[in-house]
Amino acid sequence: MKQAIIVGAQGVIGRYITAHLHGLGGWDIVGLSRRVPTEREFQARHIAVDLLDRADAEAKLSQFTEATHVFYCAFQARPTWAEHNAPNLAMLVNAVEPIARASSRLQHVNLVEGTKYYGSHLGAFKTPAKESDSPHMLPNFYYDQERWLRAAQVGRSWSWSALRPHTICGFALANPMNLMLNLGVYASISKELGLPLRFPGHPGAFTAVYQMTDSSLLARGMTWAATTPAAANQVFNLTNGDYFRWSNLWPRLARAFDIEAGPVQTIKLAELMADKGPLWATMQKKYDLQPHPYEQLAAWPFADYVWGSAWDIMSSTTKIRQAGFHDVIDTEEAILAMLADFRHRRIIP
Ligand SMILES: NC(=O)c1ccc[n+]([C@@H]2O[C@H](COP(=O)([O-])OP(=O)(O)OC[C@H]3O[C@@H](n4cnc5c(N)ncnc54)[C@H](OP(=O)(O)O)[C@@H]3O)[C@@H](O)[C@H]2O)c1
Repeated sequence: MKQAIIVGAQGVIGRYITAHLHGLGGWDIVGLSRRVPTEREFQARHIAVDLLDRADAEAKLSQFTEATHVFYCAFQARPTWAEHNAPNLAMLVNAVEPIARASSRLQHVNLVEGTKYYGSHLGAFKTPAKESDSPHMLPNFYYDQERWLRAAQVGRSWSWSALRPHTICGFALANPMNLMLNLGVYASISKELGLPLRFPGHPGAFTAVYQMTDSSLLARGMTWAATTPAAANQVFNLTNGDYFRWSNLWPRLARAFDIEAGPVQTIKLAELMADKGPLWATMQKKYDLQPHPYEQLAAWPFADYVWGSAWDIMSSTTKIRQAGFHDVIDTEEAILAMLADFRHRRIIP
């Protein structure tokens, strides 16, 4: 029996790796986060821990004497990019050190990074981005995390891997980066107000090449990386394996919501959607939706950021394919399927 410690188990990545390992069988799974899961579908033991509190982490994680794998997908958002470094490095160190000390059975630590490693958030960058590309101008918390993990592993019997996905397609509550929920809530409110589905971002972002990573595909890739010798001590980009343009997908999205596709009209969602909580509460009653608080469903600054990036976002996935992970997904189909799933689960009308 392998034991997986999922660090950040309630996030848009953590939920899916938990569900994936549960489905595989043969894994004893423990999820970590501050919030205690309330949903029946959470399929693991859970321990509430604040990883920014070293004493709390030591006290709770030193019990994992049988841990074989750590899947690290916790995240702390901060107002500026520079402020991300300290808390996100501290959480990784406070999670991995006590577990590595407690368990002589530890085999692998898998870390989730992202395309921002290449500076995709700063402006146009070299595309398709390759794992061997040189870093951008600091700071970047992925650099600090990866550098620490590489050093921590030296001389140890366990190995590490890091994956670099881009804009995750999945469900989670109260997470700062969830484009799918933003899209589902924005489109539903547009329909309720009798508006066409206008692209709210930058005209350049509407036509640029974009990529995403489906949460379930990422969970399969994380499992592969954590259990495949060829992936030991390696970094891999992991996206769905294709590219798309919002301009091609937009008419299909509008059809899925049974409204007209409008043209681009650039708006700041963080400002214009801020007052729509009461409307959403009315819609939740009218359409018999789950009573998730509006502010836990949509984090508009992330949508403004994604749809404001007017440059191509492309990673090369050649390295992971050559190493043996061949799973791919059609992104347009995955987005439409995810929105249908939100509807089925009564999250959006
Ligand atoms: N989301 C994306 O589109 C995306 C794209 C590419 C890369 N990434 C990268 O993937 C990684 C994970 O991001 P994510 O979007 O999956 O994050 P997320 O959905 O916000 O999940 C973060 C998880 O970390 C937990 N957490 C936060 N602070 C904690 C603390 N102090 N102690 C214990 N647990 C804590 C959260 O639960 P509690 O709040 O209950 O503690 C939650 O379970 C990040 O490095 C991110 O940059 C994300």
